[in-house]
Amino acid sequence: MRLAVLKERRGGETRVAATPETVKKYIALGCTVAVEAGLGIHAGQPDAAYAEAGALIFNNAAGALAGAEIVLKVRAPLAQGEGEVDELYLIPRGALVIGTLGADTVAAQRYATLGLDAVSMELLPRITRAQSMDVLSSQANLAGYRAVIEGAVAYDKGFPMLMTAAGTIPAANVLIMGAGVAGLQAIATARRLGGRVSATDVRPAAKEEIKSLGATFVGYEDEEMKAAQTTGGYAKAMSPEYLAKQAEVVAVAAAKADVIVCTALVQGRRAPILINDAMVASMKPGSVIVDIASDAGGNCSATVPGQAITTANGVKVLGWNNWPGRIAGAASNLYARNLLTFLTTFWDKEAKKAVLNPEDDIIKGSQITRAGAVVHPNFLPKETAA
Ligand code: NAI
Repeated sequence: MRLAVLKERRGGETRVAATPETVKKYIALGCTVAVEAGLGIHAGQPDAAYAEAGALIFNNAAGALAGAEIVLKVRAPLAQGEGEVDELYLIPRGALVIGTLGADTVAAQRYATLGLDAVSMELLPRITRAQSMDVLSSQANLAGYRAVIEGAVAYDKGFPMLMTAAGTIPAANVLIMGAGVAGLQAIATARRLGGRVSATDVRPAAKEEIKSLGATFVGYEDEEMKAAQTTGGYAKAMSPEYLAKQAEVVAVAAAKADVIVCTALVQGRRAPILINDAMVASMKPGSVIVDIASDAGGNCSATVPGQAITTANGVKVLGWNNWPGRIAGAASNLYARNLLTFLTTFWDKEAKKAVLNPEDDIIKGSQITRAGAVVHPNFLPKETAA
């Protein structure tokens, strides 16, 4: 069983899908591991470390992919016309491709036509059994941490209250928008740095979690909030009336905030705008908004996705994309372990290969294509999915 790990060629992606640690484990499972030279260069993993772990190093994608039956990626392999190499064309038919593929119906059909079995890790159900393979959680956690660290660096007054002989510096007021996996880590990190932290969310469970981490809950509570969580644990898109009420409460906290960290997402939609122009205008010069919802458009009206800007009233808005990629070493370690756990869970030790049981909830939730056909309901024509 040959397992190939390709370099990431999309949009400055810094993370990798396998580390020397996981390469060793794949070899112990009976795989031959082929990696592309320069794979881990941005994640602190030189070729020599992969070679020492037992991987074969190839100078190009074609070499690494020859004979591969499993291909590991962070982002989707490049298709024809998407970049310097048509990675999809080079992947042998019948191979299992695992990554955060972010597919749409066209991409899903392409995997099927090429005879590739595609598994998209971001579609994994959020069930207890899948927790150790949950790439959304592992990456969001680190993004939340990194956002606070970068916010603290951009904010030039420091987080803790400092009592010195020269006078007292007050603690920074930190406001966290959205208290899911990233937001809760942001709360914990900002508290550890000595900030005075408050946070908002729309799910009642999140309110309790905010308080249990020692932060103050800021939000609007009504009947709509009581029903704001879907059965999958995600937030529903809230009504314009609710969002207007929430904005009134948040506006008071935003005007006092020195650093705002935005993490609020609604699955499958543009991120909700929770910090509007008036709130940005009410903030002090030198204050900072860190928007890690930027990949989904951002929670702040001033965010320019992919960029850091300073507004007319001197507020710094950090809207970079791919926040887990800004802490690529740790993000790669966790992502690589998530993939390893996925594969070992479905590993047939005697046959020395992965056997993905189509009846298993984890496979039902994450496998897009099988044996030349699209199988995931998200990517089937509506009448077939029903
Ligand atoms: P997410 O990334 O989709 O959203 C982040 C946060 O934004 C959520 O807490 C959401 O409620 C909040 N949000 C959405 N609209 C908002 C608005 N208008 N105002 C304020 N906040 C808003 O969520 P994430 O972090 O992926 O977590 C989703 C759920 O999954 C949570 O309930 C979490 O506890 C659960 N979960 C369960 C796991 C498991 O059991 N295996 C693993 C990880 C998460």
